[in-house]
Amino acid sequence: MDIRSAPLESLTDAVFRRVHHQLFGGVEKYYIPFVSPTSHHCFSPRERRDIAPENNEGVPVVPQIMTRYPEHFLWAAQEMQARGYDEVNLNIGCPSGTVTAKGKGAGMLREPEALRAFLNEIFAHSPLPISIKTRIGFAAPEEWDALLEILRQYPMKELIIHPRLRVQFYKGDVYPEAFRLAAQTGLPLVYNGDLFDLPACQALQADYPLMPMMLGRGLLANPALPRQLGGGAALTVEEIARYHDALEQEYSRIFPKDQVHCKMRGLMKHVACCFERPEKMMKLIAKTNPYTYHAAVEKLLQAPLREAPGFVP
Ligand SMILES: Cc1cc2nc3c(=O)[nH]c(=O)nc-3n(C[C@H](O)[C@H](O)[C@H](O)COP(=O)(O)O)c2cc1C
Repeated sequence: MDIRSAPLESLTDAVFRRVHHQLFGGVEKYYIPFVSPTSHHCFSPRERRDIAPENNEGVPVVPQIMTRYPEHFLWAAQEMQARGYDEVNLNIGCPSGTVTAKGKGAGMLREPEALRAFLNEIFAHSPLPISIKTRIGFAAPEEWDALLEILRQYPMKELIIHPRLRVQFYKGDVYPEAFRLAAQTGLPLVYNGDLFDLPACQALQADYPLMPMMLGRGLLANPALPRQLGGGAALTVEEIARYHDALEQEYSRIFPKDQVHCKMRGLMKHVACCFERPEKMMKLIAKTNPYTYHAAVEKLLQAPLREAPGFVP
């Protein structure tokens, strides 16, 4: 079983990764949310915190880079090498409007020839092996054939596919046929998308028995999912309480009270999906402020867990 933790900006930060790894484990690699290098050649405070080796000690992490400029990518890859990392992941899947407007993330899928030129440069000069996280196109599934034909030319460490289009963001049906087509190329693939609970993960396993899986929202909702997939025990309410307290303690070391609340609310909104009446429970956490938050969590922890805890979109 090879389970990866997807990068989710502002959610899967160094605290989440450390606490999850210590309390639950079962994840082969945690992908750090993207750094977005510019010609200034410096990282933002958030990026510096996220990639600092001392914040990732003992946790298997892969840093991610998002840019359309080879020289910015290569600068960032060198910075990652200097920090001791042994792989970098290229993001060509981010659907955000501000990102694609600059031709980055999934914006790169709109211009296949520019993508090819970019990949030529970075694969020729990168100091570290490169894996890629992509979607299957920008606006239409027919784009995938040509994109795949380009991607298969490069000696990438892995290709992580979220089989949706940019225009879908994180909603709507995935395209299983697009993933199947990629599986026929012999590229080392990782599947990502809508693996929200144990039955969904098992269904993917039935189709692709050895395929590594990357879990995003499903792992945030049910942090014990990797363990369960390996045949281990189901998530318990006591575990959630310990996980909650460990996260809160760690965030409190770094951030003021308001920010701690924002971080905890963001993560616990996902965990709330594991309980009966998940929509109601999510709302219960989402509407809290720093003063009402703890009473809401106490109420949440008194509710029964669902039979197959996981994310509810
Ligand atoms: C709030 C949010 C932030 C995200 N940040 C990143 C990111 O930094 N890098 C990236 O490659 N994908 C990012 N993603 C996409 C996820 O890694 C993942 O591909 C997506 O959630 C689909 O997987 P899932 O269905 O298992 O959640 C983000 C998604 C969300 C919802």
